[in-house]
Parts: sequence; structure tokens; C-alpha cells
Amino acid sequence: MTVAERSSPRAAYDTLADDYDRLTAHHDYTLWVGHIDACLRQHGVGGRALLDVGCGTGRSTAAWRDAGYQVVGADVSVGMLSVARTRLPDVEFHHADLRQLPALGRFDVVSCLCDVVNSIAAIDLGVALEAVAARLRDDGLLVFDANTLHAYRAHFAGTEIAVDEADRLMIWRGGVREPFSAGETATLTIESFRRDPASTDAWSRSTSTQRQHHHPPTSVERAVAAAGLTLIDVYGQGFDAVPQRPLDEDRHTKALYIARRAAR
Ligand SMILES: C[S@@+](CC[C@H](N)C(=O)[O-])C[C@H]1O[C@@H](n2cnc3c(N)ncnc32)[C@H](O)[C@@H]1O
Repeated sequence: MTVAERSSPRAAYDTLADDYDRLTAHHDYTLWVGHIDACLRQHGVGGRALLDVGCGTGRSTAAWRDAGYQVVGADVSVGMLSVARTRLPDVEFHHADLRQLPALGRFDVVSCLCDVVNSIAAIDLGVALEAVAARLRDDGLLVFDANTLHAYRAHFAGTEIAVDEADRLMIWRGGVREPFSAGETATLTIESFRRDPASTDAWSRSTSTQRQHHHPPTSVERAVAAAGLTLIDVYGQGFDAVPQRPLDEDRHTKALYIARRAAR
């Protein structure tokens, strides 16, 4: 199967790789994954083999491992994977696009955490979910989050200094202009300035430009069904990471979806 290259998450995340952990330092992955794990247990997760797709620098992978899962990671960005391999040297990581995942084995859980599916254009969402569903064992669970309308309107609309340190400055430039409607695409630019360790006056600058696609819940439901999965729960989450029902696209920052693969 051929998937057209409509945007380049790889380029965006390769550029951001060395700064990603600093940018997301305030995200408590132990808390977040702990809440999600509790949901998976409620739904009778059948084992502990987990594939973390869009694993990035391994922050989500490490949290899953600390929660007792045997983890394997995959990501399209070589730069992000390089950081992940340094973080978790004993974990198997694969360079792969989630829309064309190779045969990495079968897992009890496949996770895609922190905006991974928002890098996927609407037209490719079904292909992507089908590819990850193929990596699930019978009765295995797919869990993924997606940014809500509220997240784009509130957090992708302004410019702010995200990191302000003596040797590093990061600027978050959200490209969203009101009105931002369901299914639209948001552009985000993250600029990073780093002081050259060999000189007090020399700085380097890098710019990561991301295109994020909002996926309305009804589109996600259709794509999940088309991928041969059964949607078994949908939650909304805010900054406290507590899963709440029902999802409210105008209040929560993330939608959290859990789907089951039926026996083949
Ligand atoms: C916001 S980061 C999240 C990383 C990690 N899951 C975490 O929670 O820190 C999104 C990740 O998704 C990856 N990604 C985006 N599109 C992808 C694709 N088509 N296939 C595989 N990985 C992808 C990016 O390279 C990036 O590492």
C-alpha cells in the first residue's frame, strides 16, 4: 500500500527531538499512563505486551514500562527514536510509519499517546487505525488520544515563551485563528534558540513546523469501525488527566479512545 506524503511529521519531530523532553517536562506521564492503565484494566486487558506507536523520545514508553508492561516502541522520526534509545537502551525500538507498520509481532495493547493521531490527515486515519489494529492479538486493546476543539482554540492560537532558561529559549507560535471548526488543520511553529556551549554570544536557531489535524469524534468512530475494531469507551481528559465521561470537545483538552480487536 502506498500512502501519499501530505505533510512531514518526521521533519517536524526530527527538528524538535533534542528539545522535546524540555518542552514537555511539565507533563506527568506516570499520572497520565496510570489513569489510562486503570481504564484498560477495567476493560479486561488480557496481557502485558504493549506496542507504543509514535513513542517519540520514549516518555510514554518508559511510563508504560514502569506500569508493568513489556514494551516495544515505534516512531517515524529518527531524531526522536535516538533520544528514546538513549533513555531506554534495553527496549526494542523500530523506525516505522504507523500507516504502514511492519510485522512487529502481536500485542495485547497498542498505544498512540500525545497527539500522535493528530499528525495523521483525515483521509489517512482509517488506513492508520487498520495498520495498528493488525498488530493486536485477538481481544487486544488499542488506546489513543486526540486533541479536542478546545485544545486547538485555547492552546494553538497564541504565541508564548514556552521555555526561558539561560542557555535555551523556546517560543510556541500557535497558528490557529478563530473560528476554528471541527475537522480543520492547525499549524504550530516551535522555535528553539540554544546558546553555543563554546561561546557566550553565539546562539543556534531551529524551527519545527507541525500540521495537526482535528478529528471529530464521529470521524474517529467511523474510522475505528472501518478498521475492524469495536469502540468500547470514550473519555475526555483535562490537565489533571482524570478520564471523564462524557467527552466534551468544548471543555476537555483530549479525547481518549479505547477500542477492541475481535477474535480473527
Ligand atoms: C507529540 S509526540 C508524542 C511522543 C510520545 N508518545 C510521548 O507521549 O511523549 C508525537 C510523536 O508521533 C510521531 N509520529 C507522528 N506521525 C507519525 C507516523 N505517521 N508514524 C509514526 N510516528 C508518527 C512523531 O514522530 C512524534 O514522535
